[in-house]
Amino acid sequence: MRNILVTGAFGQLGTELIPALRKRYGGQRVVASGRHLPQLSPDQDGSGPVVSLDVTNSAAVLETVREYRVEVIYHLAAILSARGEASPEDTWRINVGGLRNVLEAARIAGCKVFWPSSIAVFGPDTPAERTPQDTLMRPTTMYGITKVTGELLADYYVSRFGVDVRGVRYPGVISSESLPGGGTTDYAVEMFYGALRSKQYSCFVRANTVLPMIYMPDCIRAAIEIMEADFSQLTHHNGFNVAAMSFSAGELAAEIEKHLPGFACEYEPDERQAIADSWPRSIDDQVAFDEWGWRAEYDLPKMTADMLKRLAHRLSTH
Ligand code: SER
Repeated sequence: MRNILVTGAFGQLGTELIPALRKRYGGQRVVASGRHLPQLSPDQDGSGPVVSLDVTNSAAVLETVREYRVEVIYHLAAILSARGEASPEDTWRINVGGLRNVLEAARIAGCKVFWPSSIAVFGPDTPAERTPQDTLMRPTTMYGITKVTGELLADYYVSRFGVDVRGVRYPGVISSESLPGGGTTDYAVEMFYGALRSKQYSCFVRANTVLPMIYMPDCIRAAIEIMEADFSQLTHHNGFNVAAMSFSAGELAAEIEKHLPGFACEYEPDERQAIADSWPRSIDDQVAFDEWGWRAEYDLPKMTADMLKRLAHRLSTH
C-alpha cells in the first residue's frame, strides 16, 4: 500500500489534519513533513513517520515522494497573508515554487494532490456578499496573488497532464489545538486565548469587520471529503468555495462574552485591516454542495461553545 505525505504538517491545519488522517488511513501510512521539525509531544511521538522537507527544494520533494512511496500529497506548507506582506518575495518562492515542485513530483510519481486555496483570491472588486464560485479575482495581497496563481497552476496540471489535484478555498480557520501564524483572520483565534487567559483582548481589526470563517472540524472534513469525492463528478477541481459562518469581530466578542461575562474586547486596527477589507464578507458554496455534497456543521454559537471548552481544557493542562 502506498502512503500519504503532508507538507507543512506542523502548522495550524497540519496539526489537526495529521491525527485525522492517521485515524482514518493508519498511522504508519501518513508521513508528516515540515521544514523545521518541532519537538513532538508524547502523544504525537511515534504515531507515524516524520520527515524534514523544504518544499522549495524540488529534488528533495521528489526524493521524499519516492522514498516513502507516496500516493497522496496534502500540500499545506505556505506563508499566510499578513506575513506575506512583510516578505512578498519569500511568499512567492514558497507558495508558488513549493506548489510547482509538489505538482511536478505528483506528475512524475503519479500522486493525487490536495492543495488549499483561500478567500484571499478575492479582492476589492469582487462582490463582497455571497461571493460566487466563479467571479472576479484580483487580489491585492501577495498571498492572494500566489493563491490565484496556484489555482490556475493546479487546474493546468489537471487539464494538461491529467494529474488529480483538488482543493477548496478556506475562509479564516478557527482552531483550538494550534495557533495560526501570520494570517489576517488570526484575531478570531487569538480572541479566545485572550478571553480565557485574561478576559481581555485587543483586536487588530475594527468591531464591524465581517469575514467568512470555518471551524477546524469542518475544515478537516472538507479536505477529506473533497479527496474522497468521485473525480469524474467534479467540474471544478480546485478552489471550491467552502462557507461555514460569517460574523463581525464584535459579534464574536459578544458570543464569547455570553460564556465569559466581563470579557472586554478593544479594537485597535493595524495594517491587517486593509487586507480584511479587501476580502469578501460571505461566500456562496452552492457549487461545492452540488459537486461533492459539502455542508458545514458549525455556526458561530456551536463553534464558540466547543472552542471555549477545548481551549480551556488545553490551556489548563499545558
Ligand atoms: N486565514 C488566512 C489569512 O488570514 C486566509 O487564508 O491569511
